[in-house]
Amino acid sequence: MNVLFINGPNLNLLGKREPDIYGVESLDQIIRWVTEKINTDEHEIHWFQSNSEGKIIDKLHWALSNDVDGIVINPGAYTHYSIAIRDAISSIKIPTIEVHLSDIKNREKFRKDSVIKDVCISQISGLGKMGYLKAAQTLIEEI
Ligand code: DQA
Repeated sequence: MNVLFINGPNLNLLGKREPDIYGVESLDQIIRWVTEKINTDEHEIHWFQSNSEGKIIDKLHWALSNDVDGIVINPGAYTHYSIAIRDAISSIKIPTIEVHLSDIKNREKFRKDSVIKDVCISQISGLGKMGYLKAAQTLIEEI
């Protein structure tokens, strides 16, 4: 199984960015932690982060021609308004799980809605780095 993890804007600042909300670990530390817990002899994993909507869409299209079986995406703030990312996910038809480190339902009103949710098989929110691992495990078990 080939799993692609995509992280959107400002997630490159994890560890420094509002640690009370997003935790003290950097994205690299989270990547290492998740990668150690996945059997990489059996599964191939790729990580990608961009602050740009177009680059995230390009990566979703890349997944189509690179045998990606499942996608874990934290679209950051794009979650709440990027119809373009939503359209890319529904176009490629690769099973995708939406992940958020924080509990978006219990924060500001504008974070409660996700325009991405309906084109994903599920949404995981508020579990911190565990959310990425849970999402990958769900994809591995279900596909
Ligand atoms: C986030 C939640 C979003 O609302 C926010 O814009 C982010 C991070 C999360 O992981 O909790 O950038 O996706």
